[in-house]
Amino acid sequence: MKALVWRGVNQLAVTQVPDPELRNEQDMIVRVRRSATCGADLHLLGGHLPLLRRGDVLGHEFLGEVVEVGPRVRRHRAGDRVVVCSVVSCGRCGPCRRRQFSLCDNGGAGPALGEPAGVLSPGGCYGSSPALGGFAGSHAEYARVPYADQGAFTVPDGVTDERALFASDAAPSGWMAADLGGVRPGDVVAVWGAGAVGQLAARAAVVLGAERVVVIDPLTDRLRMAERHLGVETLDPGTQDVGGELRERSGGRGPDVCIDAAGAAAPGGGRWGRSARLGQRLRPGPDRSAAAREAVYHCREGGNVFLLGTYARAVDRFPLGAVVTRGLTLRGARQHGHRYIPMLLDRMARGELVTEHLATHPMPLDRAPLGYDTFRNRLDGCVRAVFEPGP
Ligand SMILES: NC(=O)c1ccc[n+]([C@@H]2O[C@H](COP(=O)([O-])OP(=O)(O)OC[C@H]3O[C@@H](n4cnc5c(N)ncnc54)[C@H](O)[C@@H]3O)[C@@H](O)[C@H]2O)c1
Ligand SMILES: [Zn+2]
Ligand SMILES: [Zn+2]
Repeated sequence: MKALVWRGVNQLAVTQVPDPELRNEQDMIVRVRRSATCGADLHLLGGHLPLLRRGDVLGHEFLGEVVEVGPRVRRHRAGDRVVVCSVVSCGRCGPCRRRQFSLCDNGGAGPALGEPAGVLSPGGCYGSSPALGGFAGSHAEYARVPYADQGAFTVPDGVTDERALFASDAAPSGWMAADLGGVRPGDVVAVWGAGAVGQLAARAAVVLGAERVVVIDPLTDRLRMAERHLGVETLDPGTQDVGGELRERSGGRGPDVCIDAAGAAAPGGGRWGRSARLGQRLRPGPDRSAAAREAVYHCREGGNVFLLGTYARAVDRFPLGAVVTRGLTLRGARQHGHRYIPMLLDRMARGELVTEHLATHPMPLDRAPLGYDTFRNRLDGCVRAVFEPGP
């Protein structure tokens, strides 16, 4: 089959790879209909997560049609249209029973491979490094879905592919940030990052009853999109005083909940670029954490800060003193999507959660390297490139 593979730092190619096969009794095979880029991929592309191998298939946000099921798959059958959670989890281990699905003991690779990323046993993820289970990604004609009853969700008939695709990753991630960030009716919420994930965190905050939601991003086209489609307020740090404005818009105290949906600055030049060129085995410098720092500085005293953006390692100059003296609650997680996806699909069916505007660049899978170039360099207003492998 055709698939998009990683060939080295920022080098991608569409090539032929072996078709996936059922390996376990709970596996199923999905013919991919839509598969989206994600900010998290930019770290992988640049070689900033350990052990990505040449030839690995990328992609983790996807929707498709079931073509084959293993003997212990109960909820799905050939022909079903499903959206698949980007996180792989078994549904039965301790963390899964606690509904902390992205910490699943069986989804990832365990401590030996997790340690280089500074984590003990991260749950799995499609199209990522073997430290996250080494599952082949979804930018391909077909994908193997392990623990299929757990990780795949039937899409209601009335919901289009373009909308349901976002129930795989960006929507549950955003919802989780608002939920675990403790957004309550009447709150003022600030979200750093107006990518698909930040926009859907902002939308979740609105649905959960926040009185004011402010999205902060230097990319003005994304801010305009957030205003138009989500009805939220925005701030451009290039031209506006973020701290002053946030205080002004929250009765002088600062937002009740601050969400970092930007993450470590994705690879560019300088130290990051040089270490990436030298090879991923060299440990690059600490993550750059401007958004997380600002979230802490600007949050109201006693408020909540939720870190949703990707940080793979240590962070320098993080204002821990402010967390303590200002009495903040600081949380973070990779998405526990399985908690939220059925509810999100219902909301999508009722028109409460609209996501298709985020799919700015739909294109055939053959053009995926160009799609990543457009997404990575923020060209042409790209928020998500969405690949369609075709019939
Ligand atoms: N926790 C999870 O499970 C999970 C799931 C999906 C994505 N993510 C992470 O969430 C983040 C957002 O994902 P995305 O797909 O929307 O990414 P994206 O790259 O499309 O968007 C990130 C946005 O953040 C903005 N930004 C960067 N630094 C900023 C700063 N200091 N202040 C304000 N804005 C800033 C960028 O301009 C960009 O618009 C990424 O770090 C991604 O890896 C986490
Ligand atoms: Zn993603
Ligand atoms: Zn589990």
